Amino acid sequence: MKYIAGFIGCGNMGGTLANAVCSAIGGANVALCDLDGAKVRAISEKHGATALEIGALAAASKFIFLGVKPQGMATTLGLIKDALASNDDYVLVTMAAGLTKKSITDTLGYECKVIRIMPNTPAAVGEGMILCSYSDGVSEAEKAQFLALLANAGLVDEISEDKIDAASAVSGCGPAFAYIFAEALADAGVECGLTRDQATKYAAQMILGAAKMVRENGNPAALKDAVCSPGGTTIAGVHALEDCGFRAAAMNAVTAAYKRTLELKK
Ligand SMILES: NC(=O)c1ccc[n+]([C@@H]2O[C@H](COP(=O)([O-])OP(=O)(O)OC[C@H]3O[C@@H](n4cnc5c(N)ncnc54)[C@H](OP(=O)(O)O)[C@@H]3O)[C@@H](O)[C@H]2O)c1
Repeated sequence: MKYIAGFIGCGNMGGTLANAVCSAIGGANVALCDLDGAKVRAISEKHGATALEIGALAAASKFIFLGVKPQGMATTLGLIKDALASNDDYVLVTMAAGLTKKSITDTLGYECKVIRIMPNTPAAVGEGMILCSYSDGVSEAEKAQFLALLANAGLVDEISEDKIDAASAVSGCGPAFAYIFAEALADAGVECGLTRDQATKYAAQMILGAAKMVRENGNPAALKDAVCSPGGTTIAGVHALEDCGFRAAAMNAVTAAYKRTLELKK
C-alpha cells in the first residue's frame, strides 16, 4: 500500500482533515484528489502530498476519505468501485452528513470496512470534535491507525451511529452558535467603549478559556456558581441572560438543528 490516507474531495471539510492528517503522518503518506485542482495544489504545495486521479487514489490508499457532498456520494462510489476491486486492504471513511455506513455499502453493492465520522470545522485549528462509528470489520489495529491520522485534528469520540445526528447538532452546528455568542459579546464590548479588535480578542479568549475549564471540570453549572459572588456583577449579568431566555434559546438552537437533520433524511 503506497498511501496511508487518500482524500477524495478536498473542500471545506475534506481539505481541513487532509491538512491535519498531513501534519500528523507527513504529506508523503497522503494522496489527494478533487475536481478543483486548486484545492489539491494548496494542500500538496504545503505538505508535499501527491495529487492523483480518483481511480489511482482508490486503488493505492489504505484509508479512503470521502469528502464529497452527500448528494455526490453515489456518483463518487460509482467512480471508484472498479479501482477498489484491485485494492486488497482499504477502509472507506465517510464524513457525509446523514449517510449511514449501511447506505455506503448498499450503494457500492458489497460489504466493506467503513468508518463514519462527523467532524467540525474547528479541526482546522486542531480543536475539532470528531465523532466516529466503525463498521464491524474494522480491526483494533486499524482503529488505532485511524486515530493516529486524526491526532492533530482534535478530540475523537466513538459513538453509536444512531446518536451521530444528535451529537452533530451540538458539535457540528455548534460553532455557528458559538460565533454568534462571540460576536454579540464583542458588540456589547464596543458599546461599552472597547475597539472592535479588543472586544473580539477578549471575547474569543474568554470563550476558549471557559471551554477548557468545562472540558476539564465537566460541570458548567458549578463553574458558573464559582464566579458569581453574592451581590456581584456576574450574577447581575446572569440574571439579564435568564431574563432574555438565553438558556432556552441555546437549547432551541440545538433541537432545531436536530429536527432539521431528521427532516432532511426523509
Ligand atoms: N463543511 C462542514 O462544516 C462539514 C461538517 C461535517 C461534515 N461535512 C461533510 O463533509 C462533506 C464535504 O463537505 P464540504 O463542506 O467540505 O464540501 P465542499 O467544500 O463542497 O467540498 C467537496 C469537494 O469535493 C469535490 N468533489 C465532488 N465530487 C468529486 C469527485 N467525484 N472527485 C473529486 N472531487 C470531488 C468538490 O468539487 P466541486 O466543488 O468542483 O464539485 C469539492 O471541491 C459533505 O459530505 C458534508 O456533509 C461537512
